[in-house]
This record gives sequence, C-alpha cells and structure tokens, in this order.
Amino acid sequence: MATKILDTNSITGASESISATTKKPSATKAKTDTETNENSSLHQFFLSALKDIYFAEDAIIEALDKMQEAATTEELKDAFEDHQLQTKKHVSRLEKVFKILEEKAEKKECEAIKGIIKEGEEIIKSTEDGSMTRDAALIIAAQKVEHYEIATYGGLVQIALTLGYDKAADLLEQTLVEEEDTDEHLTEIAENYINFEAEQED
Ligand SMILES: [Fe+2]
Ligand SMILES: [Fe+2]
Repeated sequence: MATKILDTNSITGASESISATTKKPSATKAKTDTETNENSSLHQFFLSALKDIYFAEDAIIEALDKMQEAATTEELKDAFEDHQLQTKKHVSRLEKVFKILEEKAEKKECEAIKGIIKEGEEIIKSTEDGSMTRDAALIIAAQKVEHYEIATYGGLVQIALTLGYDKAADLLEQTLVEEEDTDEHLTEIAENYINFEAEQED
C-alpha cells in the first residue's frame, strides 16, 4: 500500500510539470474525449497506472513459468499454464488501451508486484519439492497476484469510465473478469483436495 501512495505522489508531481510544458494550443479540429482530458492529473495518473500494470503483467508471465515448474499437482500446473496464456492476452489488451489513448505502450517498474513475486519465490525455496504443502502455499502466492490485479483493474475501469474512455474501460473490464475467475478457480483447487492433503503431511 505504501508503494502505491508513493507512486501516486510522484505521478501527481510529474503531471504538474507535464501539463505545464505540453499544453496544446487550442485546436480548430473537433476534439476527441482523449484530447479533452489529456492534460488532466487524473488522465496522467490513469496513464501511469496503466504503465505500472503493463510492467506487472509482463513480470507475472515470467513468474508463472517458475511457479508451474515448482507446482506438485498436474491440476495446479495446468492452472498456471492457462493463466500464463491469459496473462499474455492481458498484455495485448493493455497495448490496445495505449493505442486507443494514442500513447506509447511503456512499462513502469512496479515494486508491489516485484515484492509479491519474490514472496512466491521464497515459498518455493522454503517448501519441499513434490509436497502438497508447496501447492497450498503456491496457491496463496498466486492469489496475492490476482488480488493485486483485481484491485488495479477494478480501479482503472472506473477511472476510464469517469474520463469517458468507454472502449478502454470495456477492454480493462474484460481482463478484470478473467482475473476474478482465476482467483475463484484457485480457491476451488485449494479447497477440493490440496489443502486437505497438505494437512496430512508431516
Ligand atoms: Fe492479468
Ligand atoms: Fe492474473
């Protein structure tokens, strides 16, 4: 949470200087919604948050490789593989959103996701290879990723709607729904048998 607050502060600062230097002269052509809002602080924050989640999605693709390899059960390996494919789709959806906004797709280093991924790596190191305890713990690590994504996309959908970027909101909403489904699916896997079998281990 602290990281998010810090980010917001730095973004606000950045947007002030951006709006001071890049204000366009009043154009004669009809303005689109994006043009109308592009100098606003909220637009700048929206853009910055998109760059943040763009970085995060890319980092998640890499992390899911390691998690898939480390998982004990085929069911969890498959879930991670499916989610990796889905995450690649999330990356290309974000690229579409940047395009709609007529902005370059750029990544902004996201300390929060780096921390969550690091925690997942520590779980792999601290649990026994081939154990159900590892899967139970990996599911929680994966759900922390999902919850970060759900919080981000949930907020971004609402900001996009507020700014009148309906097409962008629609794309972000599609990803939000997929993140929520993944989270539920992970809960089901844990509750089906993994947690129970982990409890039987020494
Ligand atoms: Fe995602
Ligand atoms: Fe996800």
